[in-house]
Amino acid sequence: MTTEITLAQSSFTSLCAGWQFASSRRGAWQARLVAGRQLTSWGWSPATEVFQDAAVIISELTSNAVTHGHVRGRDFQLHLLLGPCPGLATVLRIEVSDARGERLPQLPEASTRGAESGRGLILVDALADRWGSVPRPPSGKTLWCEMDLMVSQQE
Ligand SMILES: Nc1ncnc2c1ncn2[C@@H]1O[C@H](COP(=O)(O)OP(=O)(O)OP(=O)(O)O)[C@@H](O)[C@H]1O
Ligand SMILES: [Mg+2]
Repeated sequence: MTTEITLAQSSFTSLCAGWQFASSRRGAWQARLVAGRQLTSWGWSPATEVFQDAAVIISELTSNAVTHGHVRGRDFQLHLLLGPCPGLATVLRIEVSDARGERLPQLPEASTRGAESGRGLILVDALADRWGSVPRPPSGKTLWCEMDLMVSQQE
């Protein structure tokens, strides 16, 4: 576990935490666990909407990282950042980086929605205010996702 982070894209200056996990189902489970603890330490109980929305996003992105973004022998990273973003309110930013840069997330077409898979990014798209992906040199990518927080949600 480490707190050293490299931001994919942004200028957060406040709170941040980062970890590295094996690219496996167990690694994804561990990521969800530590993320929940971190959100709690930042003041959100599991009963809050912010905690629950962030948990869904983290679950979907980490699950994707260890399936679609899996590269044998390579870990994935999770970073959580909380801070003021220029021109915006306080933002909770979630970053999940995997080693597979040549494959990118694809939001399913409306016509294929309702299928048994392909729901993860639809959930992320609905819960996040912004999300996207950026290359992570030398060969990976980072999926990032931001939730704008109202003042009352920061306590
Ligand atoms: N980290 C990733 N690396 C590469 N491709 C990805 C990644 N995340 C998502 N994708 C691509 O985007 C598609 C849509 O992702 P999404 O999470 O919505 O669906 P899914 O993972 O296929 O199914 P579900 O999440 O419902 O179990 C995936 O099928 C995959 O092709
Ligand atoms: Mg998925």
